[in-house]
Amino acid sequence: MKSKNSWRDGDSVGVKPARRWRGLLGLAALAIFAGGCRQDMHIQPKYLPYQETPFFADGRDERPVVPGTVARGHLRLDDLLYTAKENGEVADKFPFPMTREDLERGRQRYNIYCTPCHAYTGSGNGMIVQRGFPAPPSFHIDRLRQAPVGHFYQVMTDGYGSMYSYAARVEPEDRWRIAAYIRVLQLSQHATIEDVPEVERPKLNEQAAGSR
Ligand code: HEC
Repeated sequence: MKSKNSWRDGDSVGVKPARRWRGLLGLAALAIFAGGCRQDMHIQPKYLPYQETPFFADGRDERPVVPGTVARGHLRLDDLLYTAKENGEVADKFPFPMTREDLERGRQRYNIYCTPCHAYTGSGNGMIVQRGFPAPPSFHIDRLRQAPVGHFYQVMTDGYGSMYSYAARVEPEDRWRIAAYIRVLQLSQHATIEDVPEVERPKLNEQAAGSR
């Protein structure tokens, strides 16, 4: 028995296949002949990018942008966010509140971009350094622990000595998240048992026992 759900079921009700084919052929012929008649929407009198034109003296159809033009969405008015400066000084605060998600994102970005040289703990002894690249300072030296957090943003933005800029690879917001995560690393190397919430302390003992 024919299945009720077969795709043929609703098909060809009342129309004989031969007549349908004739109709389709007629449509195809119409499309071919009628299509050749009008071309004005296909060939438009317009210039394409990088075309030549005798209209302008320099022969280019594109006009150079006015000096100082800013692309939409690229107007960087927020000094703190984009330059880490406030009133001309390196800022020691974040341009937006750092949530746990921001720190997690900072950790992820740090692990991708910075660990090859700075190592997972920030000691400065990453794999590339072990292979001969100049060693960066540890993030745990007093000077960098006391440096304003904006300093880390600026190092990533502008580069520093033999370290090149990360501005092309890390977006401004992510640079701040990495800077925040560096603060976490710094704290992790200088924490005392008092910094650990009391409820968490037994876990530390368990971990220490487990690692032995
Ligand atoms: C290819 C290796 C390399 C990578 C990757 C790298 N750095 Fe560096 N970094 C260095 C070196 C080398 C120095 C020391 C430069 C100098 O003093 O000439 C340095 C210095 C620094 C300093 C210290 C500046 C100071 O005041 O002394 C900071 C902060 C820093 N890097 C942050 C970062 C961050 C954040 C990242 C990831 C986005 C990163 N670096 C990625 C090599 C690297």
